[in-house]
Amino acid sequence: MNKYIGIDLGTSGTKILLVNACGEVEKEVTKNYGVSYPKEGWSEQSPESWLTAAYEGVRELMDGVCADDVKGISFGGQMHGLVILDENDEVIRPCILWNDGRTQAQTDYLNTVIGKEKLSEYTGNIAFAGFTAPKILWVKENEPENFAKIAKIMLPKDYLAYKLTGVHSTDYSDASGMLLLDVQNKCWSAEMCDICSVKAEWLPKLYESYDVIGTLTKNAAKELGLSEGVIVTAGAGDNAAAAIGTGTVGGGACNISLGTSGTIFISGNSFSVDAKNALHSFAHADGKWHLMGCILSAASCRKWWLEDVLGTCDYAGDEKEAACGESGVIYLPYLMGERSPHNDVDAKGAFIGLNAATTKGQMSRAVMEGVAFALKDCMEIAKAQGIDVKKTRICGGGAKSAVWKQIVANVLEIPVESLVTEQGPAYGAAMLAMVAAGEYADVIEAASKVVKAKDTVYPEENTEYYRKKYENFRRIYPALKEIFASM
Ligand code: XUL
Repeated sequence: MNKYIGIDLGTSGTKILLVNACGEVEKEVTKNYGVSYPKEGWSEQSPESWLTAAYEGVRELMDGVCADDVKGISFGGQMHGLVILDENDEVIRPCILWNDGRTQAQTDYLNTVIGKEKLSEYTGNIAFAGFTAPKILWVKENEPENFAKIAKIMLPKDYLAYKLTGVHSTDYSDASGMLLLDVQNKCWSAEMCDICSVKAEWLPKLYESYDVIGTLTKNAAKELGLSEGVIVTAGAGDNAAAAIGTGTVGGGACNISLGTSGTIFISGNSFSVDAKNALHSFAHADGKWHLMGCILSAASCRKWWLEDVLGTCDYAGDEKEAACGESGVIYLPYLMGERSPHNDVDAKGAFIGLNAATTKGQMSRAVMEGVAFALKDCMEIAKAQGIDVKKTRICGGGAKSAVWKQIVANVLEIPVESLVTEQGPAYGAAMLAMVAAGEYADVIEAASKVVKAKDTVYPEENTEYYRKKYENFRRIYPALKEIFASM
């Protein structure tokens, strides 16, 4: 049977899946790498480490697999990262990642001097510190020698695609997060390029996520242990790819991802923006659009709390303690500042409401609840737009926790569905490759044939506890905002 490779270029590692044309995952490899934090609030990664992870990972995946069976490759990738190449195609500086907070001044310039109305008119979005355009301005202002060398700009997964095919490409979903794309009309915004001093020839060619961009170069085929004829498909930003992988396509469908970041992704058949541009209005990998709220720290909060603070990897033990940890303790999850809806790089994490009897389990539960409340902040904005989300699917590392899924269902007061294949972006990427190869007519058909729901968690009766707690949660950030900024 034909097979496809889905590569998810994530923040903590690259996950690679081998999926057959029926959608069964046959093999899986993950290669981890680090993030460097050169200064407080900065986060960077070397593009070469992604390439090494992809080469080594695919070779390992292919061990014992017949190379001729593999017909296509595609990608999901961490969004917004700025990769810049010089005229010799050398990487100029490490990639500035999606959760990097150094660009407050450039973000403020875009939102206030250029103005949110203009940004929204040109792109459908306003500036957030993590987006690519403020990063370009930051390099221009702070590293003029690097800016002068720029010959190509690309996003993380597009660097991989470029190395594998020699084609400088991106897809609409990922390009949406650059703040250089006119999202509604699916073309680069000449105005935004002008504002950010970006030359048109630096930008990648735009594709739909399921479009073929080329085939593997001879060298890439050799490095990966694959045949040269393998088609490479544009792929998608990780959230759009995850949405495909969970069958979140068509109007009103919702997916929540509990990865390093947390997102609430609402698929739509037409382009729309919310009143304050608090949610992102991006293109979807099914050819349409979506609204998305992105909180910068989700599963990373639990990892920080357990591994860094408590010094344990005993997730199962923590799960038991958290299960009975209802209490008044409230946690703010802003470990890397916050994107949606606050757009504040100075926001910080906090535990509020501790007393002498507070237990570890109560604090663990508060961490999970705090992330769910932050997602509810985003959901409330969609609701105010008249969007009625009736249920959601869920994916990402955090979705492995039964307690956390129940908390999400209780806080959002909607059923939460898990999938048979909980592989998120890498699975969606493999599906995009299948569509490109003609296994399915389009993404909607692929989703209906290969994505299967496993079980559903329904909200419990104790909604009053969560409603009251959410009301308090909402009031804490505004009360602490000034203090955070002065810390
Ligand atoms: C989305 C975002 C994150 C990253 C994580 O806007 O910034 O979800 O894509 O990889």
